[in-house]
Amino acid sequence: MKDMSMEDNRNLDLLASWIRESKYTVVLTGAGMSTESGIPDFRSKDGWWKNIDPTTVASTYALEKQYDLFRDFYIMRINTLKYCKPHFGHKILADWEKRGLVHCIATQNVDGFHQEAGSKNVYELHGNIRTVRCEDCSDDGKLEDFIMKKNCSSCGGRLRPNVVLFGESLPYDDLNSTMEAIRKADLVIVIGTSLQVYPVNQLPDLCKGKKAYINLDIDFHSKYFDLALKGKAGDTLLNIEKHLTKY
Ligand code: OAD
Repeated sequence: MKDMSMEDNRNLDLLASWIRESKYTVVLTGAGMSTESGIPDFRSKDGWWKNIDPTTVASTYALEKQYDLFRDFYIMRINTLKYCKPHFGHKILADWEKRGLVHCIATQNVDGFHQEAGSKNVYELHGNIRTVRCEDCSDDGKLEDFIMKKNCSSCGGRLRPNVVLFGESLPYDDLNSTMEAIRKADLVIVIGTSLQVYPVNQLPDLCKGKKAYINLDIDFHSKYFDLALKGKAGDTLLNIEKHLTKY
């Protein structure tokens, strides 16, 4: 964990005070929330999209035209999850929900770690990679069948994970609930996302209250926030927790 400067401490104190005072807080997370669990993000130097063009594996085009490549990519990602679990940052957010400090989490992550850590109110804006359905008949499928490269047991069609692919819409209910929550939030905390993917990158703008950004790379996006904290998600959440409980 990095050493804290006076400014870091002031900022942590400030965010802790906003969390204490806010009556409705929404957390919005991205892949940087799960890198400390061992899952690569997409656009950092070791991210998935540094070596693979997303349209070749994670798009409707890939599903339609190169199913084998599409399936191999998702099997690889599902297998990665077997060796990873939520970290203390996920647990702190779940605990904040229990203490009434966080009202919901909207996530672009498909790993299910927020729920596994104990968060109840989670909106999965890009779906969940742990369940599958048939692309052809829409029946639920078995994850093991997908991993074993089997087809749908009802119609013989192509199984696919319940994630949002490039070229698909976000799940209506989760997106709507997220927008509603952010519109009424006094505070939105955005964690571990490059804010490059539409429409999620537009969501923080709906907030009329305070906006905080926690990320390893603090770039031009920070000017759209009231506060930007540069650092790892888990470490930063732990530090905020210390500031929250110090009085
Ligand atoms: P990105 O990979 O684009 O961004 C992750 C951000 O998290 C980067 O800015 C990193 O610097 C930062 N980061 C990495 N590790 C961190 C850590 N330990 N603590 C804090 N920050 C950290 O991932 P997303 O913004 O989530 O969609 O990507 C959005 C969407 O693009 C994904 O949901 C996925 C992808 O294509 C689909 O596949 C549809």
